[in-house]
Amino acid sequence: MKVVLDSPLDMHLHLRDGDMLKNVVKYSAECFAGAIIMPNLTPPLTTIKEIKAYKKRILDFAGGLEFEPYMTLFFKDSYDYDFLKEAKSFVKAVKLYPSGITTNSEGGVKNFDMDKLRGVFEAMSELGLVLSVHGETDGFVLDREKEFVDIYENIATSFKDLKIVMEHITDRRSAVLLEKYDNIYATVTLHHLLYTVNDLLGGSLKPHLFCKPIVKTPEDKDVLRELALEAHPKVMFGSDSAPHPKEKKECNGVAAGIFSAPVVLPALCELFEKYGKLDNLQKFVSDNAKKIYDIQPPKKEVVLEKDEFLVPNICGNVVPLCAGEKLLWRCSVGSG
Ligand code: DOR
Ligand code: ZN
Repeated sequence: MKVVLDSPLDMHLHLRDGDMLKNVVKYSAECFAGAIIMPNLTPPLTTIKEIKAYKKRILDFAGGLEFEPYMTLFFKDSYDYDFLKEAKSFVKAVKLYPSGITTNSEGGVKNFDMDKLRGVFEAMSELGLVLSVHGETDGFVLDREKEFVDIYENIATSFKDLKIVMEHITDRRSAVLLEKYDNIYATVTLHHLLYTVNDLLGGSLKPHLFCKPIVKTPEDKDVLRELALEAHPKVMFGSDSAPHPKEKKECNGVAAGIFSAPVVLPALCELFEKYGKLDNLQKFVSDNAKKIYDIQPPKKEVVLEKDEFLVPNICGNVVPLCAGEKLLWRCSVGSG
């Protein structure tokens, strides 16, 4: 049994830099035609020069694989129209992090006063730049995304022409915004479709399932599954694959982030097959994203075969999701 995907896209990906980039990029570049690349490097990407140089490093390390890195800029309320106009040729989205909410986000937004943010949001609306958002407050950990809903609503109603992507949604109470506002879209990860807080800490603590936003309740997971399995037209797959070295995940003070890139497509096939929804996978992993972002990725056929795949215990110095487990599907790349 086979599934052939036409130009799959990962609409939320962390590739890091240096040796880590060199190690991890192949897992995405082999099985995807393109990906939205997150800008939370140290320091974060805030200039066109840095973005161009980073894109070149990604392509160099991808070693000739057909893969388009769609770059993003780290949001600052100080950007002016002219800068964003120039940036538009090099980036697809501007990624907004609340300050200090996750890895390398200290330089993010401290104050969500719309008057302070108006200039950038108006410029982005006019230029057609997507606003990509990590939507969490610093409140109670299971309610952080829900507490950000007011901010999403405020932005969506104040800037009706701004395309807003709620990244890696995890909470049923933010999912409702998709129906409420024409200009709100979302990405969904693999891990939030598979796990709940019980898997993370209901038995022994699983540091490799620790990410931000944290995995949530069974009800939340069910709502996300419904969106993904039905390939809701405003929802795209974004892995949020976020590698950290093994020693930063197996220690006191565990880094947030799940390295899912080596397993995402096989695991999605398994899930979609289980619910009889394999026909919807193409939309979830590519077609919806092409429409929402108005992109034409390189043509690349990715074949998934129903054949046992033993996930490696370690990829370089990073432990992948499902390490050592057997999955039912494996990835092989066809010609494009
Ligand atoms: O778990 C996460 N890891 N969530 C994020 O928002 C950032 C990411 C990272 O960069 O490690
Ligand atoms: Zn992320």
